[in-house]
Amino acid sequence: MAATKRVEGTVSCILMRGLYVMVLFMMIGNVRNGDSYQRVNKDCTVVIAFLVRNKAHTLPYFLTLLERLDYPKNRISLWIRSDHNEDRTLEILKIWLSSVKSQYHSVNAELLSSPPERLPEEKGPAHWPSSRFTHIIQLREEALVAARQMWADYIWFLDSDVFITNHEILKLLISKGHTVAAPMLKSDGMYSNFWCGMTEEYYYLRTEDYKPILQRERVGCFHVPMVHSSVLIDLRRASSNGLTFVSSEVPDYKGPHDDIITFALAANKSGVPLYICNDHIYGFVMVPLEQSDSLQLDFMQLTNLKLEVLVENSPLPVSELLAQFVSHPERDTMGFDNIYMINLLRRPERRKRMLNCFKELGIHATILNAVDGLGSVSGGVGITNGYHTVPVDGRPGEI
Ligand SMILES: *[C@@H]1O[C@H](CO)[C@@H](O)[C@H](O)[C@H]1NC(C)=O
Repeated sequence: MAATKRVEGTVSCILMRGLYVMVLFMMIGNVRNGDSYQRVNKDCTVVIAFLVRNKAHTLPYFLTLLERLDYPKNRISLWIRSDHNEDRTLEILKIWLSSVKSQYHSVNAELLSSPPERLPEEKGPAHWPSSRFTHIIQLREEALVAARQMWADYIWFLDSDVFITNHEILKLLISKGHTVAAPMLKSDGMYSNFWCGMTEEYYYLRTEDYKPILQRERVGCFHVPMVHSSVLIDLRRASSNGLTFVSSEVPDYKGPHDDIITFALAANKSGVPLYICNDHIYGFVMVPLEQSDSLQLDFMQLTNLKLEVLVENSPLPVSELLAQFVSHPERDTMGFDNIYMINLLRRPERRKRMLNCFKELGIHATILNAVDGLGSVSGGVGITNGYHTVPVDGRPGEI
């Protein structure tokens, strides 16, 4: 039986290969005809716009991932604004830009070091007085106008505390064909970059649609009242002309002075549905700070998020150039004499994950190789001293 199957397999393989060679010849023929090759479109042009403030801790990851996007850089223009920093944000942006700038179609960056660290009304780095919203609104609108003037096909508003781990994201989102699409981003809790409901006062409303989308029990692109933090807009669509961050441009605007709410209501008024897509794991987002929080808390949140990433993904990468801006806590045993990790050698992925967690958390651990119940005696451990192998009533290899 097995022998026959193998022969059949070989025959169909040869047939397939024959077919493949034929198709290849047909394609070459077409290219020679000059037509199909000449009709291949160039990739859409994309402006990636990001505003950065006090993000020296997230930037090394953010920029490394941006650099690794699977999309031709000569079809991407960067639009970057940064001001009012109280950390090494500008230094990182400058070093990174001087290294990658020439690869992109164009770079429009204003990196200001002269303004004071804070706007006059700000009580702390996470405080958002009205003047801060005004400033952000102006900058976002400026980016949108610039992209329209450049006749860019798309603009992608991407916050610098977002980690895009799916390198295919641009091709995937563009292929959806929506005027506005956002990739669903995971955090280390229930927070994400979309709302499923909006109150009468235009603020966040949790509805029962939220969790199934967040936890990917329902998968696809969903029409929602709000997307933010990573939003791709197709500027070729006529309806996109009504999109704005400036409330005075929105007829009958009654919402608050807030960039993302204005944008969502402008979309609604223009008949542009907002879509959140969770058909892939696209990336991660930091949970925003509360008004009175310190930057220190953001550093801790970043550690939490990096641990969350490690649950099912490889660690957030950092390029060689930016590694100098990332530090890990010094390792200790947290006041204990010893911390041990016991792990089966045949579970290398779990070992790797734990080693990465220890690095993030600054834990010095002694690694012990577990005794392998499956490997210690050929055919598994028999009934010994009242213990037995667990295939009977548990997981293989457990004793
Ligand atoms: C605009 O908002 C209303 C009320 O929430 C909603 O029913 C409608 O679908 C929205 N339109 C678009 C284009 O999102």
